[in-house]
Amino acid sequence: MTSSDQEDRLVARGGRIGGTVAVAGDKSISHRAVMFGALAEGVSHVEGFLAGEDCLATLAAFRAMGVRIEGPEDGRLVIHGVGMDGLRAPEAPLDMGNSGTSMRLLAGLLAAQPFAAELTGDASLCNRPMGRVAEPLGSMGARITALEEGGRPPLRVAPAEGLRGIRYDLPVASAQVKSAVLLAGLYAEGETCVTEPAPTRDHTERMLAAFGYPLRQEGATVCLEGGGRLRAADLTIPGDLSSAAFFLVAAALQPGSDLTLEGVGINPTRRGALDILLAMGAGIEVRNERTYGGEPVADLRVRGGELEGIEIPEHLVPLAIDEFPVLFVAAAAARGRTVLRGAAELRIKESDRIQVMADGLRALGIAAEPLEDGIVIDGGPIGGGTVDAHGDHRVAMAFAVASVAASAPITVTGAAAIRTSFPDFLAVARSAGLEIEADKD
Ligand code: S3P
Repeated sequence: MTSSDQEDRLVARGGRIGGTVAVAGDKSISHRAVMFGALAEGVSHVEGFLAGEDCLATLAAFRAMGVRIEGPEDGRLVIHGVGMDGLRAPEAPLDMGNSGTSMRLLAGLLAAQPFAAELTGDASLCNRPMGRVAEPLGSMGARITALEEGGRPPLRVAPAEGLRGIRYDLPVASAQVKSAVLLAGLYAEGETCVTEPAPTRDHTERMLAAFGYPLRQEGATVCLEGGGRLRAADLTIPGDLSSAAFFLVAAALQPGSDLTLEGVGINPTRRGALDILLAMGAGIEVRNERTYGGEPVADLRVRGGELEGIEIPEHLVPLAIDEFPVLFVAAAAARGRTVLRGAAELRIKESDRIQVMADGLRALGIAAEPLEDGIVIDGGPIGGGTVDAHGDHRVAMAFAVASVAASAPITVTGAAAIRTSFPDFLAVARSAGLEIEADKD
């Protein structure tokens, strides 16, 4: 099954979780493979590209800027790089759909181009703050105007008149902002350095290195010199830990389950969800470690048992930022209380993930208390019912997983956005043993 049968409403009935499955390619890495392949000199071959709507929006944007890209066909892309100065002005606004990564990273890249461009997106994306990229890019000399109040998209990017490198201390731990500044820095005069308050995913840095661009890392600071070149590369993209997390939790919370997820990225700047689940008592083994294109990969074997509520260490928050919806489901199924603080960023993701998850968990009979910057969840019996995912892909998949521990089926509405990050979710979920169907009524 593919996106064609993935409707806006799903019914999940639990099931026996087990077997061996592979999840789709990593979303963050897929975006970057298209971007750096397009800017490189020569032809890059990519395997394991995620053909979800978010990454397809990035791909379409580069096609609209004159880059020839073959595929995706079975996760394979052939990207005919145009070099650092080869992009052409797009004829129409670039539509980034639901994808924050596409919009923020492209803002950095477009800021440095000799042509004007406009970036737009769907209602959720147009409600997300872009001042966090426009501000540092502005201090490099970029001319970016947010067309809606509060620094919100669409963004109009005027032709660059020569950017200057900066030293930038990130006010929030955001890989998207770090990456936007580094992308602009590739074109800036002099050195650009970004310092992060806590480690965030470093896929941009690893992929720049894979494409032959020199970088300097000193503790929490990464620096690069503008004016260099990227050389084409052949890459295999790891499975997305953020997609794997749904099945890690489904298996971890079901006593007796035994599930292996093959070829999953376990980059240390992304593996917070693994560490949180291990701290909750999950039986997860990391096996067969290897490297794809500079990214660590492993097979993950999960054996289900009882989970315990924990206080989630704050330093793990940026390392697990996309996995909290399903970690909240793990907390609901665990014994005792789970407390999360220091996670205000969750309120400005594809939805307000603190409020939307608290509402959904309550609808299933779980005591969930939203905090300004987190949530308190008391584990207990999960009932059936209907929950609204508010068009947020990860919320929808998280509630489908909750059915594994629930006493009755769970209907999820507002689920169509699953195609943005995991178009094969239904098929993979079924092969892992979840009884789930699109509800066409
Ligand atoms: C991403 C970074 C994260 C994450 C998003 C993908 C990336 O956002 O939530 O899904 O690819 O750089 P922030 O950097 O804004 O936290």
